[in-house]
Amino acid sequence: MSDDNKIQYRTIPGGSLNGKARVPGDKSISHRSIMLGALADGVTEIEGFLEGDDSLATLRAFRDMGVEISDPKSGRIVVHGVGMHGLKAPANALHLGNSGTSMRLIAGLMAGQSFDTVLIGDASLSRRPMRRVSDPLGKMGAHIETGKEGTPPLHIHGGCSLHGIDYDMPVASAQVKSSLLLAGLYADGVTRVAEPAVTRDHTERMLDAFGYPVQRDGNRVSVTGGGGLRATRIRVPGDISSAAFFIVGASIAPDSSILLEGVGINPTRTGVIDIMRLMGARIDLENERLEGGEPVADICVSSSDLRGIDIPEELVPLAIDEFPAIFVAAACAKGRTRLSGARELRVKESDRIQVMADGLLALGVDATPTPDGMVIQGGALGGGRVHSHGDHRIAMSFAMAALRAQGEILIDDCRNVATSFPGFPALAGSLGLRLSVGNADG
Ligand code: S3P
Repeated sequence: MSDDNKIQYRTIPGGSLNGKARVPGDKSISHRSIMLGALADGVTEIEGFLEGDDSLATLRAFRDMGVEISDPKSGRIVVHGVGMHGLKAPANALHLGNSGTSMRLIAGLMAGQSFDTVLIGDASLSRRPMRRVSDPLGKMGAHIETGKEGTPPLHIHGGCSLHGIDYDMPVASAQVKSSLLLAGLYADGVTRVAEPAVTRDHTERMLDAFGYPVQRDGNRVSVTGGGGLRATRIRVPGDISSAAFFIVGASIAPDSSILLEGVGINPTRTGVIDIMRLMGARIDLENERLEGGEPVADICVSSSDLRGIDIPEELVPLAIDEFPAIFVAAACAKGRTRLSGARELRVKESDRIQVMADGLLALGVDATPTPDGMVIQGGALGGGRVHSHGDHRIAMSFAMAALRAQGEILIDDCRNVATSFPGFPALAGSLGLRLSVGNADG
């Protein structure tokens, strides 16, 4: 095990969050800005790019395919697009680290290339299900081999001619939808994807921004292959999934009042605000505006007395990455919170139902995992040692739990916080979280 895996957060219990902050750029939008910028004709300038390990894995993959991309400087990068057919065969497998978004979206794009590619990832990504993309891409004419159990590596054969399909997604997944739409850019005819529930629409919005027509009809979205992308300027808003930790933190900690500036509030992402408000949180949106096709606002949050709720299932895909933080809010609420319809949480960077239940139980919370959710009885939070299982969002959620804990919380294996939120300890510290970073054996 490298020393990196031993990075441990140690928190002092109590405290409050106060002040202003700007969270790093949106991870989903950052990935897509590189992908479409790389395939566009002309030069795309990106501002607010997330310099996290996941989006940097996407950046490196496109460099490996011959795209000139400047080094990020304070979130600014320049991508010299090579056009839809300008990518070059990479010399080696593309290593996508911890990033499921990179692997699933790039798989769609690679299905339409003339050369072969191999996509690999770290131990967590190597356990994640890929048939959800390789099966429908196969129906489009792609030839993709997965590892045992449908997991990475993915061997994607080039030179296949793709054709459009009509696909009803069995799970509500923006990654699957995006993978098929991106393959659809290379397919003959129309690729149409129907989603069982609304999922994030950043791919559709960004295709629009790059001048590629996208049709929407109720729960169906479609593209016609054979078009081109026009380079543009992208301004990436702050990531609501990163803001979520502070939305929860300021809600549960007494005497807190924070302002999070420039956060994306795309309605396909704001489930955390809706759920927290249903629990009684005090959240105000100020200065709402549109930036580069994405809605943005400053988010004001202050302390509140939360109450347990039954989380409406229709909000689940709109808050899919925020449940680790919401579980911490539920542990601090009065009464019982029940989540169902969230089986997808079991196949994220970790099994977020089991890992969060184990951590909450270690802190003395009455938490019962179910196959597709969790039941949490709010009450006192003790101290203890919890394991993030290398999952960034688990680590940051338990860091916020410290604000209401009665003892020190030690959080193991926090290296991957850098996948989505580089600088989290410093930013959290500037708002008042008492967190130090050390080495588990040190
Ligand atoms: C993402 C979609 C979601 C989300 C992930 C990012 C995206 O995954 O959990 O963090 O950028 O499209 P699913 O589409 O698999 O739910």
